[in-house]
Amino acid sequence: MTASFRQLLNDLKTAGELVEIEKPVDIRYIAALVDQSETALLFKNVEGYDIPVVSGLTNSRDRLAIAMGCDFSAIEGKVRAGLDGPIEPNFVDSGPVRDVVMEGDEVDLFKLPVPLFSVLDGGPMITAGITLSRDPDGEHENINAGVYRYLVREKRLTGIDIVTPNNLHRYAKKAFAKGEPLPISINIGTHPYELIASTYKAAIGTSEMGIAGGMRGEALDLTACKTIDLPCIADAEFVLEAEILPVGWTQPEGRFGEFTRLMGGLHWNPQVRIKAIAHRKKPIYYALHMPWENIWPSSPIYEAAVRRAVKEAGVQATAVNITPGGCCHWHAIIAIKPHPGDGKNALMAALSVADMKHAVVVDEDIDVFDGTDVEWAIATRVQASRDVMIVTGARSKPLDPSLSYVPGKVPVTDKMGIDATISDDVPRERFHRIAYAYADQVALDDYLGPAKTDQNEPTGDGGEPSKLADAIRTEITEAPKHFAELTEQFESDGFQSVARALGLLHAGGGLWQDSEGRYCLRDSTFAAVPPGQK
Ligand SMILES: Cc1cc2nc3c(=O)[nH]c(=O)nc-3n(C[C@H](O)[C@H](O)[C@H](O)COP(=O)(O)O)c2cc1C
Repeated sequence: MTASFRQLLNDLKTAGELVEIEKPVDIRYIAALVDQSETALLFKNVEGYDIPVVSGLTNSRDRLAIAMGCDFSAIEGKVRAGLDGPIEPNFVDSGPVRDVVMEGDEVDLFKLPVPLFSVLDGGPMITAGITLSRDPDGEHENINAGVYRYLVREKRLTGIDIVTPNNLHRYAKKAFAKGEPLPISINIGTHPYELIASTYKAAIGTSEMGIAGGMRGEALDLTACKTIDLPCIADAEFVLEAEILPVGWTQPEGRFGEFTRLMGGLHWNPQVRIKAIAHRKKPIYYALHMPWENIWPSSPIYEAAVRRAVKEAGVQATAVNITPGGCCHWHAIIAIKPHPGDGKNALMAALSVADMKHAVVVDEDIDVFDGTDVEWAIATRVQASRDVMIVTGARSKPLDPSLSYVPGKVPVTDKMGIDATISDDVPRERFHRIAYAYADQVALDDYLGPAKTDQNEPTGDGGEPSKLADAIRTEITEAPKHFAELTEQFESDGFQSVARALGLLHAGGGLWQDSEGRYCLRDSTFAAVPPGQK
């Protein structure tokens, strides 16, 4: 079945992940109620509006997994499928979003139930707008897609946040240089396939809707807008046909609660004239809830990008975690099967991904999803002068609040990589993990509860210690043995007898150990040599 926004609402409802609110709700309370909710919410009766509002659709890993019809960990594979095998969109004559079209004076953004999210936001913000645009010079043929937010300012006017140096920013700059507006279609209420593909940091000229098609396994339907020469997504809930006005980055706008989980500052942005609003017959407004509906869908995107870059570098990654603590934008933990030098190569590749700021590379025995395991690898495998790599002056994500502020300049960022793979220069046996003796032979459950009367029999007969010592001596003459190997081999003599026999050998001065701690004879070729002696 073709994945659609409406189908997603049904799927979430069936899974108990979407609750419908019938009681009247003041639009001012929507963001806080979604924040308190364990599920997505559909507000059917928003006071003063005749359009229902849905929010929180991808606020959790589970809901995103339902949307994508696979485990959360498999979503990244779908993104890669989209990147490797894009399917370009279909152009169709019409679609549900063209059911109602309002133009000119009929356009009234204030009739849309656009909520206020954070207490310091500059006003109601349209957050789920998948924005299609074209290169005004025609240098790049494909349609560009990105998600951008729009501050509702007037009946027919919004702001648009294009501070970051992304593709739409470049197209807007080109149009402004000619003194022309840049047409855009803003598509609201689409499936997360389109949201994820649009958010992917694709190189300029890439068709993100083609990536969405590749992820879906079938082409997405686009249809023409009426007032601008651009298509829109045919089954969206709403489309705003608009143009970015050539006023440059001149208008104060914001603030806004960002994906950083922090309030962004006042931005200087262009403005957008809305020429028409098209929508379904009974549309539902999608209020994408900040910040987690921005954070979670970013995880598979950056995972796909990091895996791709690391693979291109010829390094085999076995697991990647784009951590929520890094807002699913800035931090990657990558497990690899390393050859000498691969830790550093993997870091350079991962840090080449746009926005990626800190990367940690570990061996494949480390669980990248377990913070304690990762920290343990950093604690036990890293020497800072050898394993920490810092790059300065790289392209930044300007919303990073730690960046230095130089008025009038696009800030650049430092990037840091930590190679927490075991260095080739240290002996491997330093990294033998503790494994408890006989762990594979015992189970605690067998020892709980009352003792049976025939239990607690001593094991082994205690035998003659000197005979056992002779037998052990013969054994370790052949090959060095760990203590546990000897107790297992001479199990019938009992643990205590083996320890006692080794004690005898030790007292006689003949017992020694090899470099791995196995018992051997002092004058054998296995014997470890004290430091400083040959
Ligand atoms: C919910 C959401 C909101 C976003 N809002 C903005 C925004 O307002 N401004 C911005 O520069 N990027 C924003 N992004 C990130 C861009 O969509 C992303 O960088 C995208 O790749 C840009 O596409 P483009 O470079 O092809 O134009 C947002 C992403 C999401 C998921």
